[in-house]
Amino acid sequence: MESSPFCERDILRPEALPVFNEKGEFPIRVKPRNAIHEIVLNHHPFDVVGWDGYYYPWIFSIHEFEPRVGRVHLPPPVHQTFESDGFVVCSFVPRLFDFHPQVVPAPYNHTHVMSDEVLYYAKGNFISRRGIEYGSVTFHPDGLPHGPHPGRTEASIGQPATDELALMVDTFRPLQVARDILSFEDDTYYLSWLEENE
Ligand SMILES: [Fe+2]
Repeated sequence: MESSPFCERDILRPEALPVFNEKGEFPIRVKPRNAIHEIVLNHHPFDVVGWDGYYYPWIFSIHEFEPRVGRVHLPPPVHQTFESDGFVVCSFVPRLFDFHPQVVPAPYNHTHVMSDEVLYYAKGNFISRRGIEYGSVTFHPDGLPHGPHPGRTEASIGQPATDELALMVDTFRPLQVARDILSFEDDTYYLSWLEENE
């Protein structure tokens, strides 16, 4: 649709595929019916020179996403970029804030219902957060109330714009945390909403 936040010209297909025309033993692991099976090819699997049909790699840059702005706060679906059966992907990109004279640009506190939320902060000061830096990843599970950190709502008043860049994935089923994450988890993150931590 013409009202979409991006257009088909923003979706780029590969101009040329890297080709590996090699012989040898190339194991491929496939996962039908929830079990891993290994098959061994006698040639490199990436020996194709083109593709046909509708399955092919493509890219869409977050910088092509055109943000929506309203006089009062627009809800998260305006940031939605992709949707699948199991999750949605939302793009938070540099944009003007809501422009009603009495508006509070920071989002309100909320709880997700039947959805887990993962955010990756790629640039800028995220309006509702503090203690978040470049490369931070947050995980807000289903049912846990969350919202702006103390002081962030007040600080957002009068701000004309944001240069934030962040990617959000909301899943429709619970996410499991891998054990490897524990070594770099910030286990004080939940305390960052307490006033005395300012
Ligand atoms: Fe949320």
